[in-house]
Amino acid sequence: MKFFIDTANTDEIRELNDLGLVDGVTTNPSLILKSGRNINEVIKDICNIIKGPVSAEVAATDYDNIMRETNHLLKIAENICIKLPLTFDGLRVCKILTEKGRKTNMTLCFTANQALLAAKAGATFVSPFIGRLDDINLNGMKLISEIRTIFDNYAFRTEILAASIRTANHVKEAALIGADIVTMPSIILKQLINHPLTDKGLEIFLADWTKTGQKIG
Ligand code: E4P
Repeated sequence: MKFFIDTANTDEIRELNDLGLVDGVTTNPSLILKSGRNINEVIKDICNIIKGPVSAEVAATDYDNIMRETNHLLKIAENICIKLPLTFDGLRVCKILTEKGRKTNMTLCFTANQALLAAKAGATFVSPFIGRLDDINLNGMKLISEIRTIFDNYAFRTEILAASIRTANHVKEAALIGADIVTMPSIILKQLINHPLTDKGLEIFLADWTKTGQKIG
């Protein structure tokens, strides 16, 4: 399973990349706003830090303008992945980029049928938004499970990128179902390590080790 970081904050990206745990980055217009930076500059910086795919989202909604923005974003770096809305205009651009061998991420996926369309268009990634479904009392994880079944039925190569992750439990459940990737805020990635018994056990081992009076090496 691959880990992507859902942020446009380069400090956070650098910190987690140094741990060797980041396979890619996803951004969206809200995350660019939060970064307070210009999209061209921040995406370029992220692409210089991370070797894997960096999703940059178009802001246009009609075919001509999506194409214009896509051509601009593609020039930023080789590892740019174009994030497109799951609409027919977005799918049309997706198909063209797939034929050109460029990476695509179909975003704002809320149904299995939308994911099926993304796979038919040859998308590299499809992003089902778990947390936003849970927010309206639907079952985000059930969507991941449905998409997994459909993609396996037909051996679609589109990867399931579980997005809108709100808890460490979301990560575990997505992994159990077989999502290919989880994109999460850096705070959630940091929470994955937590267990009070790990902290307590380490404390006891260190105290006992001190009592032995020994040194390793
Ligand atoms: C995915 O690519 C999106 O950027 C992100 O996961 C959305 O998460 P949110 O619902 O917490 O905004």
